[in-house]
Amino acid sequence: MSDSLTTVSPDVTAFFDDATNTVSYVVKDPEGSACAILDSVLDFDHAAGRTDTGSADQIIAHIKAQGLQTQWILESHVHADHLSAAPYLQEKLGGKIGIGAGITTVQDTFGKVFNEGTEFQRDGSQFDALFADGNSFHIGQMRADVMHTPGHTPACLTYVIGEAAFVGDTLFMPDFGTARCDFPGGSAHDLYKSIQRILALPDATRIFVGHDYKAPGRSDFAWETTVGAQKAANVHIGAGAGEDDFVTLRETRDASLPMPKLIVPSLQINMRAGHMPKADENGTVMLKLPINKL
Ligand SMILES: [Fe+2]
Repeated sequence: MSDSLTTVSPDVTAFFDDATNTVSYVVKDPEGSACAILDSVLDFDHAAGRTDTGSADQIIAHIKAQGLQTQWILESHVHADHLSAAPYLQEKLGGKIGIGAGITTVQDTFGKVFNEGTEFQRDGSQFDALFADGNSFHIGQMRADVMHTPGHTPACLTYVIGEAAFVGDTLFMPDFGTARCDFPGGSAHDLYKSIQRILALPDATRIFVGHDYKAPGRSDFAWETTVGAQKAANVHIGAGAGEDDFVTLRETRDASLPMPKLIVPSLQINMRAGHMPKADENGTVMLKLPINKL
């Protein structure tokens, strides 16, 4: 990442989803009109089984108003707390849908949990691009470097775009800490190591987090910080916290957390790159609810 292009400062517009505390981003090349969309949300009323494109439409309106060209629709990982709007955005705006190459592991795990048949491919072919650690790509003239940062899930990525790092669910804001590691394939040890790699980026690197829940005592949602601020003050891992202490803290906290409200629909849809499962013979899309499995 010594390329001079990594000093480029992308234009970043954040979209906060109150229903799921998710932050989606439009990341634009400051020298042109190319952009990427990161971690989009398809609104979902679980009780009614009804989707809505209100959140995605806000992103589309922004991109059209600014005259941007969507080159990439990126996922930091298979989200368990919201549905991805990637296919809807792709239909409206174009662009390629990308995720970590470890998606095949996630598809294998949840293909079994949901007893998916052979029509569910576990090779990542629902996505347009599968990124491995060290891969790079461009958004206009701006370079993006891929870091594999597992722990929250086995396939999580951090996208380092110019001098900004989009860390997904690894670090949250310094006063909130870090992401949970108790989903299948998660590992607090892996997350610790991944976070050390993120913190090895230059101190001035801007960090954009995937969620915010407001820490106790904070009245506003926040999503942008820096590597330096995380190193100094992250409540789980700042000031040089060691791996064993972090793992104990993380695993203790995870044991007290409820499952995300939308985990069952989110996994079934997001492991298909945001596509719905095939409809039943009557034309209705159905989701499964495995009993005593998650
Ligand atoms: Fe997540």
